[in-house]
Amino acid sequence: MDIAVLGTGNVGGALGAGWAAKGHNVVFGSRDPGSEKVRTLLATAGENARAATIAEAASSAGFVVLATPWNSVEEVLAAAGDLNGKILIDCINPINATFTGLDLGFDTSGSERIAELAPGARVVKAFNTVSAATMLDAAYGEHAANMFYCGDDEQAKATLNTMACELGLEAVDAGDLQMARYLEPLAMFYIKLAGKQKWGGNCALKILTR
Ligand SMILES: NC(=O)c1ccc[n+]([C@@H]2O[C@H](COP(=O)([O-])OP(=O)(O)OC[C@H]3O[C@@H](n4cnc5c(N)ncnc54)[C@H](OP(=O)(O)O)[C@@H]3O)[C@@H](O)[C@H]2O)c1
Repeated sequence: MDIAVLGTGNVGGALGAGWAAKGHNVVFGSRDPGSEKVRTLLATAGENARAATIAEAASSAGFVVLATPWNSVEEVLAAAGDLNGKILIDCINPINATFTGLDLGFDTSGSERIAELAPGARVVKAFNTVSAATMLDAAYGEHAANMFYCGDDEQAKATLNTMACELGLEAVDAGDLQMARYLEPLAMFYIKLAGKQKWGGNCALKILTR
């Protein structure tokens, strides 16, 4: 599959390198595709990965991953151009400027705002409740980390599910895009646990059934 990953940081790097290693064609979208940081990432990601501008990357793939900070969303989506009909994977947590909580919630979500900014895009919220370390390696002993996702387009969610499973995650469909109103606070819970409570990034959420 042709995949555009907008963002070359912890999340973009982990997801893009992971899918490139599985044989997908990955284009990293960056505001500086020739930078040393991006060259280092490409060396890690291997021959199936390349880098381009945000606009070139987004236009080249039907599966576009948004992995930049919340405060960059308007700029990145404007640079990405027309995403109508494309699957748009929103990994972003709408964390406020002081990193103490979320910028919005209760009656909307970052994902719903992103859907407004990208008309016609088939938005799926995903990966926001797992750490970048877990994206790189989803195995916890005999268990696979859970990754919750939501969206209004069933086909887009099915594609996302397949792509998440390829990375070893046990993906869980949490429902329609409005469920992002709950997945984003869940991620904030995880971030506080990992940071303030000092669990670090090598822990993951697991749902048990019986
Ligand atoms: N870190 C995690 O474990 C984790 C887990 C789940 C979800 N998330 C979410 O995933 C997103 C990315 O997190 P991260 O940890 O990967 O962040 P990061 O390491 O800081 O990387 C951010 C990336 O976004 C790019 N960027 C920033 N502002 C931009 C702009 N205005 N235009 C274009 N590109 C821009 C940066 O480009 P430059 O290199 O050019 O600065 C960098 O490639 C965040 O929204 C975060 O909430 C993070």
